[in-house]
Amino acid sequence: MSRLPAFPWDSLAGHTERARAHPGGIVDLSVGTPVDPVPDSIRDALASVSDVPGYPTTHGTPALRAAAVDSLRRRHGADGLDPDAVLPTIGSKELVAWLPSLLGAGQGDVVVIPELAYPTYEVGALLAGASVQRADGLTQLGPQRPRLLWLNSPSNPTGRVLGVEHLRKVVDWARDRGTVVVSDECYLALGWDAEPVSVLHPDVHGGRLDGLLAVHSLSKTANMASYRAGFVAGDPDLVRRLLAVRKHAGMIVPRPVQEAMTVALGDDKALAAQRERYAARRAVLRDALLAAGFRIDYSEAGLYLWATRDEDADATVGWFAERGILVAPGTFYGPRGGRHVRVALTATDERVNAAAERLTA
Ligand SMILES: Cc1ncc(COP(=O)(O)O)c(C=O)c1O
Repeated sequence: MSRLPAFPWDSLAGHTERARAHPGGIVDLSVGTPVDPVPDSIRDALASVSDVPGYPTTHGTPALRAAAVDSLRRRHGADGLDPDAVLPTIGSKELVAWLPSLLGAGQGDVVVIPELAYPTYEVGALLAGASVQRADGLTQLGPQRPRLLWLNSPSNPTGRVLGVEHLRKVVDWARDRGTVVVSDECYLALGWDAEPVSVLHPDVHGGRLDGLLAVHSLSKTANMASYRAGFVAGDPDLVRRLLAVRKHAGMIVPRPVQEAMTVALGDDKALAAQRERYAARRAVLRDALLAAGFRIDYSEAGLYLWATRDEDADATVGWFAERGILVAPGTFYGPRGGRHVRVALTATDERVNAAAERLTA
């Protein structure tokens, strides 16, 4: 426990209280938690297997693994993946937190994470006893041979998208050193001004999956955050190793959730409808932030706007809180985030419009 950092969200209590006191009620744009309905197709699938008394399989149903492979090919052009090289996971936060341990990383190992990163990458490395290095460029890493390197495109918190060329360079570099590349692709289907690319796309890996894992989540694309539904896919050997440990250790995805995931991965209409909702909210918030004098950096994709007024992040969070709006300071994601805030697109249209009115008043 002493190895872990303080839980960042606890430090927002004061700003939350101030935002709650607004006469129009709080607009919470801090945590990126989905607010729209779970599609009926998914709810029906969940209910359809609620009377299965036996244990689910750790590797997931063949239908689920086939649906994952099909969706990666159809939605993201990731051809040539073997369904056996897919492993369902309880959420992806849980996998992110335990992956370094599951892969046997430990003391003396280095885990590379982006300069500005989802905090659980660091937590996962620390839980394994490994050390963390933040880096966005390979030149920062010198001659060392990290055990694991996390990519996250589109990024939380910045919404930055890494191009094919960048991804390919990282993959080649890691292969030369025996470093496992883990690409967290939970926002991959949410490209706005840029088309995000999977590390499992042949243009990136050149036909070889060795040393590559992609982590996917159904939380954001299918409004299934409460179901805790994700999967990891890629290098068949690495997935086999993860499966071998998980057969002993459990963390099995419940059977009803497996069924719901299978349907969600095939429901491109529901995904398109959700994308439209987020695109509309993004346009409203973006215009309002620009009108209020903010600059928006990156934010080409994903569920966040990375905004700044070139002042201390905590002061900006306070400015929002006075208007009843809660946002996250960039410092939650790394020392380089000190002058930005992260504004989530995950609020109802009514709340998003309320925020825009307050920002432009
Ligand atoms: C970059 C990133 N990875 C993983 C997760 C975890 O998502 P989940 O555990 O809901 O799949 C999140 C959640 O916000 C995230 O932003």
